[in-house]
Amino acid sequence: MKALVTGSGGLIGSECVGLLAREGWEIVGVDNDMRRQFFGEQGTTMPVVEELTRTLPNYRHLKLDIRDRQGTRDLFQAERPDFIIHAAAQPSHDKAASIPYDDFDVNALGTMNLLVAARDFCQDSPFCFTSTNKVYGDRPNYLELVELEKRYDYADGRTGIDETMSIDTCLHSVFGASKVAADVMCQEFGRYFQMPIGVFRGGCLTGPQHAGVELHGYLSYIIDCAITGRNYTLYGYKGKQVRDQIHSYDVAQLFLAFFRKPCFGEAFNLGGGRSNSISILETLDMLAEFGFHLNYEYKDQNRLGDHICYISGLTKIHSFFPDWRLTYDLPRITSEMIDRRLCQKRTTRA
Ligand SMILES: NC(=O)c1ccc[n+]([C@@H]2O[C@H](COP(=O)([O-])OP(=O)(O)OC[C@H]3O[C@@H](n4cnc5c(N)ncnc54)[C@H](O)[C@@H]3O)[C@@H](O)[C@H]2O)c1
Repeated sequence: MKALVTGSGGLIGSECVGLLAREGWEIVGVDNDMRRQFFGEQGTTMPVVEELTRTLPNYRHLKLDIRDRQGTRDLFQAERPDFIIHAAAQPSHDKAASIPYDDFDVNALGTMNLLVAARDFCQDSPFCFTSTNKVYGDRPNYLELVELEKRYDYADGRTGIDETMSIDTCLHSVFGASKVAADVMCQEFGRYFQMPIGVFRGGCLTGPQHAGVELHGYLSYIIDCAITGRNYTLYGYKGKQVRDQIHSYDVAQLFLAFFRKPCFGEAFNLGGGRSNSISILETLDMLAEFGFHLNYEYKDQNRLGDHICYISGLTKIHSFFPDWRLTYDLPRITSEMIDRRLCQKRTTRA
């Protein structure tokens, strides 16, 4: 079996490549290191691509740009993959406003290129799209909240946000809007062309491979600041904003579950759920338990459209994929990321 993974050097793409390789798949990875262009040297994913190419004999890398329509069509025609995981993106909510053309071209048009090529050359192959909870824009902020000592929470006692939340009439950010375009188009290809496409609206997806930068990769970046002593800037909401964290391994396992039992154009909220939810103030406490003290400054101005409390409701995922489970809790995610960062630091010093 052959899989095509876009964004194969990134957090989600590389985890999927690793999992599929262990399962015996042949994998074609597509990544042009555009993350470096978005975020500078610290954001490059080329070392990950080099490692995949060096260590996995069943991995082939292509530096294709998914904006290249003909190149994408040629690739699908030549490879006709049995499974597509589309994880290439401009992934930052904050960055998009300064690069709106690039953001839209990669997130919306790039996705369209992949969808049409998949329809024309491998229509029955399951296709997973990594969407985002930013498709709900700032609508989660309209929910009534309670302020607790270190976090906000939902006043109505709900466990998390489910897929019935409207994506209309709210502030999305340029990134959220380009992802909405891709998200809805993926749903449409699923329904209109009866293609096995799953749309996964991620909360905070994370893991040791995350090349975290200030504008994308919250947990990875805050851990990096704590380890290196770099100053962290905390923007608004008194540091009580809540996110749910899911390890990339659990995301990759879910995509494989989708391959085994696909459906047509369904959207799912995907995250660590309530048990893996944490506020920034709580993150500081957790890092202290690991022996790290974070230097930070507080700016009483939240990021535009930033969620105050976002916890993914996982009921739909569990009902479609009953055998899938989260295997990483927060301490396990964090300790793995700390170990990896410390190891990188030692290697750099040596
Ligand atoms: N990480 C998160 O917290 C999170 C949360 C919600 C949704 N998502 C979504 O999940 C997906 C994967 O996120 P990630 O964290 O792995 O991102 P990432 O930035 O780590 O990886 C994306 C990869 O895509 C590559 N890429 C970008 N533009 C490209 C292009 N034009 N052609 C080919 N390759 C290109 C980049 O070089 C990078 O290696 C994205 O769609 C993102 O929007 C991520």
